[in-house]
Amino acid sequence: MQNVIDFIKANRGRYENELIEFLKIPSVSAQSARKSDCLRAARFLESQFQSMGFDVSLRPTGGNPVVLARWHHAPGKPTVLIYGHYDVQPEDPIDEWNSPPFDPQIRDGNLYARGATDDKGQSFAHVKAVEALLAETGALPLNVTFLIEGEEEIHSANLPHFIHENKEELAADFGVVSDSSQYGPGVPAITYALRGIVGEEIRVDGPDRDLHSGVFGGAVQNPCNALARIIASFHDGEGRVAIPGFYDDVLDLEAWEREAFAALPSDEEDLKKSLGVPELAGEPGYTPLERRWARPTLDVNGLFGGYQGEGSKTIIPAWAGAKITMRLVPNQDPATIHRLFEEHLRRVTPPSVKVTLKKGGGGNGPVLVPRDARFMKEAVRALELGFGAKPVFVREGGSIPIVLNFSQELGIDVLLIGFGLPDDNLHSPNEKFNLADFNRAIQTSAWLLHLCGE
Ligand code: BES
Ligand code: MN
Ligand code: MN
Repeated sequence: MQNVIDFIKANRGRYENELIEFLKIPSVSAQSARKSDCLRAARFLESQFQSMGFDVSLRPTGGNPVVLARWHHAPGKPTVLIYGHYDVQPEDPIDEWNSPPFDPQIRDGNLYARGATDDKGQSFAHVKAVEALLAETGALPLNVTFLIEGEEEIHSANLPHFIHENKEELAADFGVVSDSSQYGPGVPAITYALRGIVGEEIRVDGPDRDLHSGVFGGAVQNPCNALARIIASFHDGEGRVAIPGFYDDVLDLEAWEREAFAALPSDEEDLKKSLGVPELAGEPGYTPLERRWARPTLDVNGLFGGYQGEGSKTIIPAWAGAKITMRLVPNQDPATIHRLFEEHLRRVTPPSVKVTLKKGGGGNGPVLVPRDARFMKEAVRALELGFGAKPVFVREGGSIPIVLNFSQELGIDVLLIGFGLPDDNLHSPNEKFNLADFNRAIQTSAWLLHLCGE
């Protein structure tokens, strides 16, 4: 392994240049105009795997292709399924970036670009780890399947079907996903829980056209006003979600877990400062960490309606809309939560408007990784070797839709080994990935594969 680690250190510059090439491709899955860029990103990965002698193909789905790459030449050894995503979130608001989102720049040891940490940089670390193992030892210590998809940021709607149809090819003993983060600089982490997510989109229709707000105002319901009331009904005055039944199935935090969270270094003042908010907010009775990691939420992600242009325009808009997501925790069920949301919406909608509910992007359940999952000990050891510190166990508030599917459909536990940092600005302007961490991630992955194949 010493040769492998030396190789990874010696190739640092080349790895960074290759990652920069990957990051230049604006593979935004949410935007149909970028469909060909998503394909280019998939092709970039395909050629990486081709040059390493993997059995690789781009597999069609109802949307962007899946990159499926296999190296299965270690008979008798376990098989790992490494998952990642090559698609990225939209880059807007573009003016807030200090350098262009798809023209990667290095500043202070960080690489700035959309997708740097989420998830091109993190998933590429595993690609480079197998490359180093193959280069130095001519083989891999176990069987490896990579599944890198192009629709994670749009809810992975086509992936469950693909997995169902290709179960045999995807069969594995365990999964590895690097699409989360360390607890902080110098504090590597293993994530043992992710929140689930349910998306909704509401549209409120009023008059059949925009009306003069002086001539008609007062006699017609204003869809923007009505939508504001509807949205206000989603929470009580203190920050709890007010949809009846919303918390019914929630598995409350256990005492040991609350203690473990409390033992992690965390500073509310720092968090407020780093986010630029005057106060933190949320559900009463829980710490900020508990609220982010282990409590369900409802958030408006986008709100639109009425005149948005320069100056003013005195109208009663014909319609208004909102995009909403709810984050779920164990044991909440996406279908039940969707139904409760819909029932609540019907109850609070005034008869003076028409509300339509578009089911946003489907839903996926929360994830809990058993602490005694297969190869968990090896993951701890690999992080220790790669990052030089013992990892802590954390939960994360974000969602990776397909992870639950891996356990349900393929029967495997998934090790969630995040290499990013909490201030990496994922989905925000100035997304970054620390380049020293990128190299440590490659070393960690090489150690993990080595330890799991022993
Ligand atoms: N990598 C994130 C999820 C994540 C972020 C997990 C930080 C843990 C820590 C992933 O790419 C993501 O953004 N997922 C979306 C899923 C949604 C679009 C269905 C999310 O959580 O919003
Ligand atoms: Mn991600
Ligand atoms: Mn993301």
